[in-house]
Amino acid sequence: MTATSSLARALAHAQEHREAQLQGLFDFLRLPSISTQPAHRDDTRAAAVWLADALKAAGMENVAVAETPGHPLVVADWLHAGPGKPTVLVYGHYDVQPPDPLAEWNSAPFEPAIEGDRIVARGVADDKGQVAAHLYAVAAYLQAAGGLPVNVRFLIEGEEEIGGPNLEPFIAAHRERLAADVAFISDTAMLEDDQPAIIYGLRGLCYVLMDVQGPGRDLHSGAYGGAIDNPLNALAHIIAGLKDRDGRVQIPGFYDQVRPVTAEERALLARVPLDPARLLANTGAPALWGEPEFSLAERLGARPTLDVNGLTGGYTETGRKTVLPARAHAKLSMRLVPDQDPAEIAERFRAYVESLAPPTVTVKMNFQTSPPSISALDTPAMRAAAAACRDVFGRNPVFMREGGSIPVVAALQQQLGMESVLLGFAQPDSRIHSPNEHLRLPAFYQGIETIIRFYAYYGS
Ligand code: BES
Ligand code: MN
Ligand code: MN
Repeated sequence: MTATSSLARALAHAQEHREAQLQGLFDFLRLPSISTQPAHRDDTRAAAVWLADALKAAGMENVAVAETPGHPLVVADWLHAGPGKPTVLVYGHYDVQPPDPLAEWNSAPFEPAIEGDRIVARGVADDKGQVAAHLYAVAAYLQAAGGLPVNVRFLIEGEEEIGGPNLEPFIAAHRERLAADVAFISDTAMLEDDQPAIIYGLRGLCYVLMDVQGPGRDLHSGAYGGAIDNPLNALAHIIAGLKDRDGRVQIPGFYDQVRPVTAEERALLARVPLDPARLLANTGAPALWGEPEFSLAERLGARPTLDVNGLTGGYTETGRKTVLPARAHAKLSMRLVPDQDPAEIAERFRAYVESLAPPTVTVKMNFQTSPPSISALDTPAMRAAAAACRDVFGRNPVFMREGGSIPVVAALQQQLGMESVLLGFAQPDSRIHSPNEHLRLPAFYQGIETIIRFYAYYGS
């Protein structure tokens, strides 16, 4: 069979099986694979098993649910493209974020619904719908054309949403099983409905759990206030010292390793038609915010940030209680950019917080980190992805950085020297991690078609 006829057959097969693809995705979405919640351990495994079975049914080989100390990975391959053909490693994740706050959903998060032209369910955009698009793209080739134009491996993770520690050791221990020329990852959004985006930069993360301990028990705030320090007040003081009023992080050396945006990249990013009004409308915030000397695209991808994610302590139930609490807690995170080293930033953060903390409290900190990444732009796989986008959307993709983190990208670069193409099909307002997460139905099908066409270009 010629390459052209196998492409045509794969495309036709994918189109004819849209109803079955959607039903398959719905089954995948019904499994509440919430990796962070121990109560959903079995559900998370069930999603891995569902995916492994679907990959087998598609015609993938060596399909396995690979155990780790945490949630399993799903791996598979099909390596019969023939001599000289490149190999693609498809990465994605089958785990999802908790659906909370539940009351804000218009339909049950794990009972997929169609609203207008959107599929609504937890995980549909991040990342099950996109993993399913990859599944049905290889299924179309294998079933309609008997083979793929390239070799393909799958590596689908169950701990992406918890920055799981088990992925890196797995990659290190299975270099041969994962060997490929490039990774193809669909876990990001398009810029607009008809404007695909290739992400070439991701931020890293340094996540901090902070516990501030004051007195040994909660105290009467009148009987002791004025003589014993309050850990909530101390925590507020520490947090206030982390940034100045313009948002610049005050940790000494924090910006030292930030790779400056070159004039060339500035020009590239200036071409991204990011609409501030749309961003405001998407979020419902009253005004934009951020470092005035950087553009929106730069602030969202090329600059590091520091944010409080959660703050607890003292009496938070209904009514008033006069209490001087024994302890206070904060969850903070820093989004990092190349070439900041997450471990070094963690140490700088620790030292600075210790310098801010008064001697009246003790502060304990726990860090979890994942590295930032920048991907090579001028590669055959990037050109194949851009060509596939032109075929399906009638436009070149925009190249931009993304503010979120996908830890595998740096892990593959560092451990296997492998570059990634990040081409995703979610919408910027898909509400990932939020109530009423959704994915446009046309984007799901366009995703399948784009992946099919990518394989055709990359294989020729
Ligand atoms: N798919 C996201 C990353 C992302 C976020 C892409 C926003 C495009 C837009 C990924 O699943 C994610 O949420 N990553 C976590 C990683 C963390 C837990 C290590 C993140 O960015 O918070
Ligand atoms: Mn994701
Ligand atoms: Mn996510």
